Amino acid sequence: MDTQPNSPEARDIRYNLHAYTNARRHQEAGPLIIEKGEGIYVEDNSGKRYIEAMAGLWSVAVGFSEQRLVDAATKQMSKLPYYHSFTHKAHSPLIDLAEKLVQMAPVPMSKAFFTNSGSEANDTAMKMIWYRSNALGQPQRKKIISRQRGYHGVTIASASLTGLPNNQISFDLPIANVLHTASPHYWREARPGETEEQFSTRLAEELEKLILAEGPETVAAFIGEPVMGAGGVVVPPAGYWEKIQAVLKKYDILLIADEVICGFGRTGEMFGSQTYGLQPDIMVMSKQLSSSYLPISALLINDKVFEPLADESNRIGTFGHGFTAGGHPVAAAVALENLRLIEERDLVGNAREVGAYMQQRLRELSSHELVGEVRGIGLIAAIELVADKATKAPWGQPGALGALTNGLLQQNGVISRNMGDALAFCPPLIITRAQVDEIISALKTSLDEALKQVRA
Ligand SMILES: Cc1ncc(COP(=O)(O)O)c(C=O)c1O
Repeated sequence: MDTQPNSPEARDIRYNLHAYTNARRHQEAGPLIIEKGEGIYVEDNSGKRYIEAMAGLWSVAVGFSEQRLVDAATKQMSKLPYYHSFTHKAHSPLIDLAEKLVQMAPVPMSKAFFTNSGSEANDTAMKMIWYRSNALGQPQRKKIISRQRGYHGVTIASASLTGLPNNQISFDLPIANVLHTASPHYWREARPGETEEQFSTRLAEELEKLILAEGPETVAAFIGEPVMGAGGVVVPPAGYWEKIQAVLKKYDILLIADEVICGFGRTGEMFGSQTYGLQPDIMVMSKQLSSSYLPISALLINDKVFEPLADESNRIGTFGHGFTAGGHPVAAAVALENLRLIEERDLVGNAREVGAYMQQRLRELSSHELVGEVRGIGLIAAIELVADKATKAPWGQPGALGALTNGLLQQNGVISRNMGDALAFCPPLIITRAQVDEIISALKTSLDEALKQVRA
């Protein structure tokens, strides 16, 4: 790290509070400053190149140097740099993107609503559901069930939906009306001898018990990511979504699919809902919607949600919700061009094919002494590190081995992210087989280096 008093590193320490960072440790460790990007690579301010194996934060589908997105932004910026959708106003990118998303949806959807982040979108989903329950004359129906290890964001409502301790401890969360049910992580949570199907059946039974204990008339919705991301890339076990949805249908509970990571190709289908047969009433999307070149997120809602909401807004006089930059014309124009690129270049097909290759290559590492589980689908995966394969015990403090290996991997030129002891891989959808090989080779080296330190 450059420690000169006016170096970018020193100024970063002086002026920035970092997201998801130990603020005290950062004062010692300082930042990794990324200066530029090209394809799946980024380069730091010392000129060192890395494969961005997390696509930033699960988001840069088309890679880090897509001129067509720059051009789309420039063109829209010169024509209409800003407008909004309050009080009956609209603009072309907003209309075009809403139409495109409703048409792309894998289940019948009615309307799109635009927000700026995944968290805002999930807050909006929660507010829409409460509004709807009131509209239907069911003011008691306000509870939303989420899952342990689910990730839905960090604003007050979305962090409440998130099922991870670090997002709630000392923030006085979760708020009322949020319930959490079990995470569907078969490898970690299944009982001895339980098959995946049996595990899924048990989780569905647990969900039903929770609903009955709370009173079905008080439960409005269930939210889930088709594949959990930030909770450690948890792929649902066989039969899981089918059994969960059967319970939701039985009690007329809405399903919100949080497609913020899975959406736009990640799992090898356009939406994770297609990969796992989800039939959501609300779909939440962001990240790969614009490849995160600009902030934008969206909700798609079906008529079960829209119709009562429309009635309620008519009764009150307005739907009193919306964000200044929601559906921003430049972000919407970039999103439209990004979706064109994903379709033209068949990046969903690439996620399926190169994704299958990445899964196969990662699974070759299963025999490594430190690897407890390799899991994933399409171009999203994680390897979970353990000190003892038989007991699945961590090395010292949980997360220590993940952090150690992640640090070594970064030194070896690959940016991953450790969620506890799970190292995630979620590269841009443009990745090639040869580039997957580069990741695997750096990962093997890093695992061996980590093993040496563990043994020492
Ligand atoms: C599934 C999911 N939902 C919601 C969010 C929150 O999105 P944001 O960070 O844009 O608020 C994320 C972010 O990683 C996510 O992965």
